[in-house]
Parts: sequence; structure tokens; C-alpha cells
Amino acid sequence: MIKFKTTSPEQTEKFGYELAKSLCAGDVIALTGDLGAGKTCLTRGISNGLGSSSYVSSPTFTIVNEYEGGRLMLFHFDTYRLSGPDDFLMSGLDEYFFRGGVCVIEWSDIIDELLPEDSIRMTITGDGNNRLFVCESGEKHISYIEEAAKKAEAEIEE
Ligand SMILES: Nc1ncnc2c1ncn2[C@@H]1O[C@H](COP(=O)(O)OP(=O)(O)OP(=O)(O)O)[C@@H](O)[C@H]1O
Ligand SMILES: [Mg+2]
Repeated sequence: MIKFKTTSPEQTEKFGYELAKSLCAGDVIALTGDLGAGKTCLTRGISNGLGSSSYVSSPTFTIVNEYEGGRLMLFHFDTYRLSGPDDFLMSGLDEYFFRGGVCVIEWSDIIDELLPEDSIRMTITGDGNNRLFVCESGEKHISYIEEAAKKAEAEIEE
């Protein structure tokens, strides 16, 4: 587990931007945190870091938005309106995990039991401009997260 803090939306985006550089095809980033926590802000940074010039906003009419134009496809989910894991499966959304892109999932707790085992899990909390990121994943990704947090000059907590 690794924890770090950001103190502005720009810093959160920068972290995402740096992390994106080490992401691989099939990686899943599962985000939890309240409304306005910064999940979309982070996803925007990831998209830019993959090299896409699209502006990422919350998927409104669909559960998932697809972004191309970067090094890898980005599949950006917002599962807020899903009733649960069955809803996700019935819609065939789990197929996105095998499409060779990067999946970023907002409100991932709703489908937690369906997440691939090696998913990167991040919980974002905080208020004002401060955000605490608590990240859980395999060792390889933890070191990438640490590197990206350092590049973004985020304060890493012991
Ligand atoms: N350190 C920070 N990191 C990220 N966002 C921050 C930070 N400080 C302030 N903010 C603000 O918090 C808000 C985050 O909004 P964002 O849309 O990313 O949240 P979200 O978690 O996607 O919410 P929702 O669940 O509604 O989709 C923005 O208004 C952003 O400017
Ligand atoms: Mg959002």
C-alpha cells in the first residue's frame, strides 16, 4: 500500500499523467471516493499521459467512454448508475477488461467483486484542495505509483 497527498487539481492530473507512462495493455485502475473527490480529474491526467488530446469528462449518457489517439486505448467507466455487478455483466461491460486498453473505473466499489485480481485500487478522500490517495496493488504497480507521485511532487506518507 502507498499513500500520498495532492494539494491541487493540477497536481492530481500531473500524477495521473506520470502514472500513465508506465501503464500496460489490460491494466485496470479502480477508483473510489465521494462526489468531487477527483476521480475524473485523475483520469484526465491519465488520458493526457497516454498521449490522447481528448478532454476527459464524466461519461453522462453511457457507462463507459472510449478514448483513442494515445499509446493505448482508454476506457473510462462511471458505474455510479449501475445497480450492481449483475448489471455490469448483463451489459457485457466486463469485455472491456480484455480489449488491450487501460480501464479506469469511477465508483468501482459497485463492481468490486468483478475487478481483475491485479487491479490498481485507489481511494481518494479530502476537502478543500487537499486529497489523500490510498493505493493498493501488486508490487510492480506500487513502485510505478511511487515514482509518479514523486514526479508530481506529491507528499508521500509513511
Ligand atoms: N487536490 C485535488 N485533486 C483533485 N481535484 C481537486 C483537488 N483539489 C480540488 N479539486 C477539485 O475537486 C473536484 C474534483 O472533481 P472530479 O470531477 O474529478 O470528481 P469525481 O471524483 O470524478 O466526482 P464524481 O463522482 O461526481 O464523478 C474538481 O472541482 C477539482 O477542481
Ligand atoms: Mg467523475
